[in-house]
Amino acid sequence: MTGQLAHRRACLIAALLGAASIASIASAETTEAPTSAPGTANPEIWPAYTYPVPIRPEHEARIAALIARMTTEEKIGQLVQADLCCVTPDDVRKYKLGSILVGGNSGPNGNDLSPAPDWLKAADAFYLASVDRSDGGVGVPIIWGTDAVHGHSNIIGATIFPHNIGLGAMRDPALIERIGAVTAKEIRVTGQEWTFAPTVAVPRDFRWGRAYEGYSSDPDLVASYVGAMVRGLQGPPAGDNLLAGPYVIASTKHFLADGGTDKGVDQGDSSISETELRDIHGKPYGPAIAEGVSTVMVSFSSWQGVKMTGNHSLVTGVLKDRMDFGGFVVSDWNAHGQVAGCTNEVCPQALMVGVDMYMAPDTWKPIYEDLLARAKSGDVPMARIDEAVARILRVKARLGLFDAGKPSDRPYSGQYELLGAPEHRAVAREAVRKSLVLLKNQGVLPLAPGQRLLVAGDGADDIARQSGGWTLSWQGTGVDNSHFPGATSIWAGLQQAVTAGGGSAVLSPDGSYADKPDAAVVVFGETPYAEFQGDRAALVLDPELTAPYATMKRLQAEGIPVVAVMITGRPLYVNPALNAADAFVVAWLPGSEGAGIADVLVGDSAGQPRHDFAGKLPANWPRAAQMEDGILFPFGFGLDYAAPAGAWAALPELDANAVGGDSRTWFAAGNPAARWSLWVASGGGAELETRITTLPAEAFGGRVRVTAENYKVQEGARRFAVADGTVSVQLGNLDPVDIARETNGDVMLLVTMRVWDAPDAARIGAIGPGSEGFAAVTLPVSDGYVRYGLPLKCLRDAGADVASLTRPFVLETQGAADYAIAEVRIGSDAEQVLPCG
Ligand code: BGC
Ligand code: BGC
Repeated sequence: MTGQLAHRRACLIAALLGAASIASIASAETTEAPTSAPGTANPEIWPAYTYPVPIRPEHEARIAALIARMTTEEKIGQLVQADLCCVTPDDVRKYKLGSILVGGNSGPNGNDLSPAPDWLKAADAFYLASVDRSDGGVGVPIIWGTDAVHGHSNIIGATIFPHNIGLGAMRDPALIERIGAVTAKEIRVTGQEWTFAPTVAVPRDFRWGRAYEGYSSDPDLVASYVGAMVRGLQGPPAGDNLLAGPYVIASTKHFLADGGTDKGVDQGDSSISETELRDIHGKPYGPAIAEGVSTVMVSFSSWQGVKMTGNHSLVTGVLKDRMDFGGFVVSDWNAHGQVAGCTNEVCPQALMVGVDMYMAPDTWKPIYEDLLARAKSGDVPMARIDEAVARILRVKARLGLFDAGKPSDRPYSGQYELLGAPEHRAVAREAVRKSLVLLKNQGVLPLAPGQRLLVAGDGADDIARQSGGWTLSWQGTGVDNSHFPGATSIWAGLQQAVTAGGGSAVLSPDGSYADKPDAAVVVFGETPYAEFQGDRAALVLDPELTAPYATMKRLQAEGIPVVAVMITGRPLYVNPALNAADAFVVAWLPGSEGAGIADVLVGDSAGQPRHDFAGKLPANWPRAAQMEDGILFPFGFGLDYAAPAGAWAALPELDANAVGGDSRTWFAAGNPAARWSLWVASGGGAELETRITTLPAEAFGGRVRVTAENYKVQEGARRFAVADGTVSVQLGNLDPVDIARETNGDVMLLVTMRVWDAPDAARIGAIGPGSEGFAAVTLPVSDGYVRYGLPLKCLRDAGADVASLTRPFVLETQGAADYAIAEVRIGSDAEQVLPCG
């Protein structure tokens, strides 16, 4: 049935493109016969849709004429997308690339935090290079994609909306469409045409660090939002010449089951049945296609052991043929390198399964060269190349890109006053208000405006923290309030509301006060993270973030009513806070408009609510550290001011030491993490070594002395005094450690250390059963502790087999040295990045 629909569309397009292409398109349409092999979908059991974007003869004629004239080089160029980190306008001119992107850590001029006008300038430079026809080429204009996933979130001064999980709590598709529209308009100010949003993941396991990028664990709720967001971004599906209006193209991601991996492992495998795959994770793609979404991004993850980027039955069989998706398919960041038989540099398989554009951030050149060679040798059929090029050109034509002129000449470009415009911030503030979920209220809310309010907690005045990952930087780290002009922290919003009502407010992160307040708000919760770094083994707050629990308990004991406001990307076990607070509000990751929280928490002059709570849980809330241990508040739960405050029965609290399990920290507070051990070795290898378990310790006849140093806590670091020779400090794990996934991203080995006597030479490395990789580093004498970061890529490039490391951290020194190590972990928040050496 759908086969027929898709075939009709293909024939229509083929007729318009000319007879030469009919065979090619027909062959690309052929799907494999249904089989029951693991990871092979049967398209026949999937719902059929009709892609609603009209096929326009004038566009088809133009596309056919272009394809007829394009050289093989020009065609292959269209299929490749490079990241700003690693591409110049000259490269675009030379290689005729179809697209560039800006990854979470990239920005114009090598600066992630470049001001908005630099983005527009860069957009012009890349555009002009792409349409330079001085060599006789066709000069197809380039498109620039960006992760505008909660507002134009890479840009300083833009409106930052709540992350999707908070929007899921609102249950308000109409507001979603307005959010999409504001986001599109702000993107247009800086000259980009494409956002890698919305994420339509249906997160099923919130140990997944990207769960907050999804709206809900409920497929119907996600599906009810997707069409609205696509419409807000792209305008109506029948729309043409989108760049003439306030629109950009959208991308639903990540196809398929990114939120359905076993145990919530990022980029992991989903072992679910095909019916679950279809009914849970496939659901949101219906409304996306019904709204004419222009692009779909393929997931890093796999289904039944087969990587999505290598799955023909899903990408072509289900998405393109059965669901009639008429836009183009883009792969994720070097995801092709994870397909069986592929590397980051060589992967014709992705094209053959149906990927039209390769996101090849730093690998675009080898990918281009390899595809070109295969196109020329016939190894990759020209028919498939033409089909992919036609899809990309069709989206560009619908955008109106061929006639739009350079980015700065287009509507909305350079209207910087639109970034964070008051009417845009008002939409975000409304979303914040509507997303708040009230889990407990023993009568303390709404706060009477005339009172003396204490605002405590380390998250109260921190806009980066309330915005989460994918905000200005990839992980949302390395930025502070000064990077958010025009934004409002939760504290600032409360202060405004309380003082406007004749009261007073004091900010005191640790909750201490001089004059006893009438009530306290304690803001606590998660700190920003994105891919990799948000993954957890248990649904608990990291132990170092739980200090506000004690503040709440103390305030409560002093007779001060406490309102807990939690910043979080997911439901977590927080029973101690639920017990200690008189009211508990989940604020999710609200973004730049923190005032939306005071709108609901602080009452009017008569003490009546100004806005009621509207948010309902978008997922179950756990009773303990794992969801299997029971649900405390179910999906859909959320109190409001009308609900009477029932009696509160104290919740059981877990032993703080029994929870946790953060696989990214290998050494902290002076000790190796569970399953890890600390060694000193003579030489870089492990041939002569001593395990350090008690202090003080000596090794090699006194050549190395190990003592304790205070860092943050008593004995929070280990100090190593080396008399002479080659010595190394090593961390080992009981099982070989696999950091291949992290190495693919911009993740670093972070070492927090202080040096009193610098060694003559030093190297940091990693050792596996049959491999090692070291980078020479300089570790100068320091006054205090410095968090150094060595990119994991350096270890891989130096020869370490990062998929199997028995000593993932080795610090080797030459000659006399004296230094202390406080912490070793993987992450991206280095204070000082070490070069590969
Ligand atoms: C993420 C995508 C994102 C892309 C570009 C990938 O690692 O999975 O969601 O759009 O990078 O930044
Ligand atoms: C980029 C992200 C990307 C990630 C993939 C980072 O370096 O900044 O945009 O999603 O790598 O691992």
